[in-house]
Parts: sequence; C-alpha cells; structure tokens
Amino acid sequence: MKKRTRSEIKKKTQRRETLEVTIGRILPGGMGLAHADGRTLLVALAAPGDRVRAQVERVQGRVHFASIVEVLAPSPARIEPPCPYFGRCGGCDFQQLAYGAQLAAKAEIIRDCIRRIARIDFNGEIPITASPNIWHYRSRAQWQHDAQKKRLGYFERASHRVCDVAECPVLVPELAATLESLREHMRNGALPREQTEFQAVAGDNGASLAPGLSENQPREVTRTIAGHYYRFSVEGFFQINHALLEPLIAAAIKDAIGETAIDLYCGAGLFTLPLSERFSRVFGIEANAEAISFARRNVEGARLGNATFAVSTVAEWLRENSSRLAPVDFVLLDPPRAGAEDDAIGGILALRPQAISYVSCDPATLARDLKVLLANNYSLDSIAAFDMFPQTHHVETVVHLKTG
Ligand SMILES: C[S@@+](CC[C@H](N)C(=O)[O-])C[C@H]1O[C@@H](n2cnc3c(N)ncnc32)[C@H](O)[C@@H]1O
Repeated sequence: MKKRTRSEIKKKTQRRETLEVTIGRILPGGMGLAHADGRTLLVALAAPGDRVRAQVERVQGRVHFASIVEVLAPSPARIEPPCPYFGRCGGCDFQQLAYGAQLAAKAEIIRDCIRRIARIDFNGEIPITASPNIWHYRSRAQWQHDAQKKRLGYFERASHRVCDVAECPVLVPELAATLESLREHMRNGALPREQTEFQAVAGDNGASLAPGLSENQPREVTRTIAGHYYRFSVEGFFQINHALLEPLIAAAIKDAIGETAIDLYCGAGLFTLPLSERFSRVFGIEANAEAISFARRNVEGARLGNATFAVSTVAEWLRENSSRLAPVDFVLLDPPRAGAEDDAIGGILALRPQAISYVSCDPATLARDLKVLLANNYSLDSIAAFDMFPQTHHVETVVHLKTG
C-alpha cells in the first residue's frame, strides 16, 4: 500500500475537523456562511441562524467547505426536508428552509452579487415572485442510469455516483410518471445498458423522453403561455417552471415597444413571439439549431412575419451585425448560467440600445455583466426576481437598464 505523505495526512485530518458555528446568511451558491477561529466556513444545507456542529470536508484557499454533523439549535427558518433523498441527492439544496426563508435567501443572494460583484449600492427592495407550486413544478429533467448497480435518478451531491430515486417531489406529474415507467423498464432489464442518461420534458400534450422507449412517444411537446402556442423538445432549452412564465415574460418585456428589438439567446422563441407583437422587426439569435427550428415554427404558427432568426453564437452575430443595425430600441438577453460570453457585452454596447432587459439564472454572472454595462452609460431601472426553482438556491432575475 502506498505510504501517505505528511501533507496528505494533515489534509485528511483537517478534513475531519469539526467546529461549532452559527450560520449567518446564505451565500450565492446556496451555502451558509459561518466563521470560527478566524476561518471562513461555507456550510452545506444550512439555515440562517442555525447553531451547528460542522465537519470540514475540504479546504480551498482560505475557505473551509463543511457539512452539518449535528444541528445543535435550529434556526426558526429550518423545517424537516420532506424528500427522503434530500442531502444525498444532488438535485435540491434548500428543502431545509421554510418557503418564505427560501425566497428571502434568494433576494439576499441577488443583493449580495449586485453589491460585491457589480459594485452597485442597491438598497431598494428586490421583489421576488413566489412559484405558484413549490412542489411538482419541474417540467424538465435529466436522469442518470447506472446499469450495473440498477440505479436511476440524479447524481449524488458533489459526486458522479447515481442516487437511485424512486420518486422526486419537484417533478410535474407527467415526468413523475415518465420516471416511474423508466424504472419499470430498468427493473425488467429493458433499459439499454450503455444508455447512461435520459432527458425528459413535459408540455400540455404529455411528456417526451430522449432517447425514447417507444415509437409512439411524442418527439416534441407544446405549451400555451400568455396566449402564445410554443412547440419545443428535449433537444433545445425551454424554461422549467411553466406556471411562472406569464409573469416572467411580462416583467422581461414590460412596456417596451418600437421599431427594432433583438432577442439574444432566444431558444424556441419564448420572448420573441411577444416581442414580435410590439416591434416592427425582431431578431432572434441562438446557437442551438434545433431550438431555432422550433422558434421559426412558433412565429409562423402565430402568423408573425416580422421575426428573423439566426443560428449563431451571440458574440459572433453581434460582431457581424451590430454596426449595421445600431441604434436599436430594445435588447433582451437571456444567456445560460455562464452569462454573456466574451465580446457579447461589447457587441450589445455597439448596438446602442435605448433599453436593455437582462434575464438571468445566475446572479453572479449577471452582476459581472451588469458591471460592464453600468460603466458604459447605462443605469439600473429595475430588478425583479422569480422563484423558478423552488427547493434549490437557484433564482431567475430580470434587470432593466436604460441609457444615461
Ligand atoms: C437560458 S436559455 C434561454 C432561452 C430562451 N430565452 C427561453 O427563455 O426559453 C439560454 C439559451 O442560450 C443558448 N446559448 C448558449 N450559449 C450561446 C451562445 N454563445 N450564443 C447563442 N446562444 C447560446 C442555449 O442554447 C439556450 O437556448
């Protein structure tokens, strides 16, 4: 057996150290902040105000990542997590918080990023719209399959081991049934061994699974949102909490109206359709060709002939088109978690939009991008949050910027 070096032994001992700490606020990323002996701890699955015994799992620079060994005095915000897989499954990390505390933590996460990263001293309220359903809301899922161990579910926390999940309380009923049917196939030995991942999406007409298990499963699903009919599939992005989409669209577009609007990272056209009713011409830009083919069909179905789509990265499209189109009235961007890619913000500035609406699922990258926009003659008009992802630390934010 290989002998361990001194520093390996030290690291191992350090990892096992336990400390009694009081949790302060919840940080971006969902961990609870605590301090002990001049050290900073980030404690998983904590509630603000908890007094806990925490075990240090790993040290990265000056930060100690820890898990709770024992709750010594629970926060008033702490509740019993209802899901039996909570803590092991990597899916949810907020079930220990009462719903009101989840919402408050998310508003504070946004404020924290805006202050620390964008360096905006924003003291106003950050209104957060609650999810109409805090369970059974999730209409898209990605399940992992371990054929050898006969497991189907989600990755365990911070691991690539599959947590076998018989029931998932955040899934919409159609996906819960799809998961159950997949599990039935697994029990009967009918799931392809080499298939390690399944993706599913639900709409008004049922659920679609990829790869599918039968020929007669729908390849695409549909959803009517604010009077618009959308088609989409598992291959392209579509928002997961459909009950919140009408208020999200209204907040993202507000009273915008005019000649030209640009919908960056447009997916299957969630915002492009309502924008096409308010602007003479709309450009939708998206890197995923499958999503764009749905976006084209969706505007055609709505008989909106004023939308033009491009399959391209946003940065590249802006490089080629910004100076030709500038100035424009309205830019809406809804990038993935990584935020706008390098050069995209520069390209948006080159469009010289009158107003910008930034829809974001990651407050940290939102704040990073806002910092650049605010340093270039834009000011903050409004911030609003939407709880698209109950039981997790994730939150959707809509920020409006105006010139000057
Ligand atoms: C958060 S989703 C938003 C989609 C759409 N606005 C919606 O709400 O349904 C982000 C989208 O950006 C696309 N995307 C990711 N990186 C991109 C890039 N560099 N350029 C263009 N689109 C990109 C993804 O395929 C995805 O559809």
